[in-house]
Amino acid sequence: MSVPENSGPTLSRVRLRVNGVTHDIMVEPRRLLSDALRHDVGLTGTHVGCEHGVCGACTVQVDGKPMRSCLMFAIAAQDYEITTVEGLTCADGSLSPVQQAFKDCHGLQCGFCTPGFLTTIDAGVKDNPDPTEDEAREMIAGNLCRCTGYQNIVSSVLRTAELARERGESA
Ligand code: FES
Ligand code: FES
Repeated sequence: MSVPENSGPTLSRVRLRVNGVTHDIMVEPRRLLSDALRHDVGLTGTHVGCEHGVCGACTVQVDGKPMRSCLMFAIAAQDYEITTVEGLTCADGSLSPVQQAFKDCHGLQCGFCTPGFLTTIDAGVKDNPDPTEDEAREMIAGNLCRCTGYQNIVSSVLRTAELARERGESA
C-alpha cells in the first residue's frame, strides 16, 4: 500500500482590506487575523499578548467596531474593512485625536498595550463623543495595561473626545 505524500498544509487565498488597501494572501484556514496582519500583511503595530481574548492588545477595528483580532480567523475577515493602529493617522500624516491625546496625557509607558487602546478609544469616542469619566473607564474596561495604572489612559479618552469635538470630527 502506498503512503500518501505529505503535501503540507492546504492554503487558501484570502483577500483582506486593511487601512484602505487590499492584500491578497495565502494562508491556512486556521490563520488568526492577528497573525495574518503581523506576518502576512506586515503590519506589526497590532500586538499579541494573551492570544485568547483577555488582554485587548490585539484589538483592531472591523467595520469601525473594536474586535480582538486573536479571536477571529483571517478568512472570516474578508468582507470587512479592517483598521489597524497604523490606519488611525490622519490622511495628511498628522496625529489623529486619539494619538494626539495619548501624547498630551502621557497615556503610555512601555507601549505594548497601546495599539489596542488606540483602536478601542478611537471607535469608542465615535460612538460616544462626550463621555463622562465613568464612561471613559467603561470604554477601556476590556483592555489591560501593566504599566500606567490607567489614570492617564482615562485622561486620554477624555482628551480624545475634546480634540475630536474641537476638530469637528467624531474622533
Ligand atoms: Fe488578543 Fe490578548 S492577544 S486579547
Ligand atoms: Fe506598558 Fe500598557 S504601557 S502595558
